[in-house]
Amino acid sequence: MSALTILYALLFYAAAAILVGGVGYKCWVYARTPQPLKIPIPPAPATRAGVVLRMLVEATLFRALFRSNKWIWLFGWLFHVALAAVLLRHLRYFTEPVWAWVALIQPFGLYAGFAMLAGLGGLWARRLLVDRVRYISSPSDHLMLALLVAIAASGLAMKYVAHTDIVALKAFFLGLMRFSWQPLPNDPALLVHLALVALLMIVFPVSKLLHAPGVFFSPTRNHVDNPREKRHVAGWSAQYDNTKSDA
Ligand code: HEM
Repeated sequence: MSALTILYALLFYAAAAILVGGVGYKCWVYARTPQPLKIPIPPAPATRAGVVLRMLVEATLFRALFRSNKWIWLFGWLFHVALAAVLLRHLRYFTEPVWAWVALIQPFGLYAGFAMLAGLGGLWARRLLVDRVRYISSPSDHLMLALLVAIAASGLAMKYVAHTDIVALKAFFLGLMRFSWQPLPNDPALLVHLALVALLMIVFPVSKLLHAPGVFFSPTRNHVDNPREKRHVAGWSAQYDNTKSDA
């Protein structure tokens, strides 16, 4: 077993643990953060089912962003939809046999690689060209965009410039999941792609990318608009809840 294989195997075990543990921990913190007031942004649904629908539309169509800024919506939505297609296409490296629907979307996933780059390009151009946005952009805003662009570019490079041994790569990842390590092909584009993906997994729990799980914990979106029908009690104020005690 080469040192490279051992290095990448350990790197991916560590990255997966940090990603799952880190995002799980952040979600736990979000879930326990007090929400003292009912603050749904109107027009807001008055039932739980309505809130589920609202979150669904928000998470798939980015409705709030659409209402606030059409350009950011266009590039942001394009990037996220393309990213989803690319990730779904990647499932073939981690499943054996490959599910029929994953095989079916392979051609779309490929175009999605370019769409992802176009979306990222638009979002980055906005940070560089719009004065107001450039002023409030921090280095991490640029670095996350650079990281995603580099992952997409190295992925497309493997497809069009320097192919890698997909069969061996798949054996490596299936081996990682079954705790039976297999050699990793040592092609430069693949090693760059994988190292950047591991970096993304490691920084994810401490980065702005946490907005992905975070949107579901946003009180302005997930509160039911029923303050007159049901008394809102924040966790920390439950001791003062005089509807429950005889005080
Ligand atoms: C461990 C995880 C990953 C592995 C093993 C992997 C592997 C690969 C391979 C082998 C290719 C070349 C496909 C081909 O030649 O047909 C590729 C392409 C690509 N990868 Fe990844 N990748 C991973 C994660 C990611 C992530 C997280 C992203 C995005 C953030 C990404 C974005 C891309 C893109 C945009 C392409 C080009 C389009 C495509 O082939 O779908 N990859 N990847």
